[in-house]
Amino acid sequence: MIRLQTRLPDDYTRAEPDDLAARVAEAKRRLGERLVILGHHYQRDDVITFADARGDSFGLSRYAATRQDAEFVVFCGVHFMAESADILTASHQQVLLPDLNAGCSMADMADEEEVEQLWDELEGVIDLERVVPVTYMNSAASLKAFVGRHGGAVCTSSNARAILRWALGLEGAAPVAGGRGDKVLFFPDQHLGRNTGFQLGFSGGDMRVVNPRLSLGGLEERDAKEATFLLWKGHCSVHQRFSADQVSAFRASQPGGIVIVHPECAHEVVELADQVGSTDYIIRAVDAAPAGSVIAVGTEIHLVDRLAKEHPDRKVVSLDPLVCPCSTMSRIDLPHLAWVLDGLLDGVVRNRITVHETVAASARVALERMLAIA
Ligand code: 13P
Ligand code: SF4
Repeated sequence: MIRLQTRLPDDYTRAEPDDLAARVAEAKRRLGERLVILGHHYQRDDVITFADARGDSFGLSRYAATRQDAEFVVFCGVHFMAESADILTASHQQVLLPDLNAGCSMADMADEEEVEQLWDELEGVIDLERVVPVTYMNSAASLKAFVGRHGGAVCTSSNARAILRWALGLEGAAPVAGGRGDKVLFFPDQHLGRNTGFQLGFSGGDMRVVNPRLSLGGLEERDAKEATFLLWKGHCSVHQRFSADQVSAFRASQPGGIVIVHPECAHEVVELADQVGSTDYIIRAVDAAPAGSVIAVGTEIHLVDRLAKEHPDRKVVSLDPLVCPCSTMSRIDLPHLAWVLDGLLDGVVRNRITVHETVAASARVALERMLAIA
């Protein structure tokens, strides 16, 4: 999705990093309790250092909902996260994204029109009352609203198992109204859906990938009827780079090494890894590893590098020797952060992210259902 970020004045683009850091620190001091800065784990170090709270997309959305005192929430992350923060915060709070071009290529792989079309096509083949739509947090607010309208929930990489257990009414499902379907339509990340399905004991035969470019997602009627998981054909270009060959190469060079990956990686990689989990989980797993461990991590490089710095007694490396930053997360930098904060000092709100109340109301249902379940 194309969004238009204004070009910053030279005063920001040409400033020295130390000067920008001093300006951000001063703006933070002057705005005091009126401001909260949230930082996703994939942010650069020079930005994350100013975050009042760091977290994964789940933790930050929960935290945003508790900070009703702050008038301005500056979200150092990507667009869908800022949208979720706007939905979950009170109406007197304003959410700002320092660079409007900080989107998520995976979130852009599904839009409301495509999902509505597939839903309509499925209606001719299966009983939609028995299908629970689940959207990954990495999706536009309009998709969260779709899910809210159709009895489903949002999930993140830390709670996908609990959400799918609820959606299918499996043993141990949270006692939250709804769910208990025969099928799940999961979007936009096929990998998180597939990996979670396997973790819950399902097999590949219970899953079908739906391609939004083809009629009925490219499925035969029989497939649509048989499948428990209809997995949207979307992926994260950062996590898709990790491969089974990289795991084998690491194991060959580091016998006894530990492999930890994010569930947005392909199933063959997850299967070979020692541990799999959200960004928050990965941090805890590296913390818990004994001193002297050699750990290959399959996730975005800013987090991997930070973990390496914070654990000098362990060797933490990227599973992909060529590494791959998330180019959209990287758009949030000190010049953009300083620019939005200076605006607030001048009484100008720049890059406010607002979700129209008609969309927000249904999206809130899906987000609050998620918070109730997990
Ligand atoms: P987390 O939910 O683990 O923070 O991941 C968000 C994300 O964008 C991963 O690519
Ligand atoms: Fe989106 Fe992937 Fe970047 Fe996460 S790492 S924000 S899923 S493109």
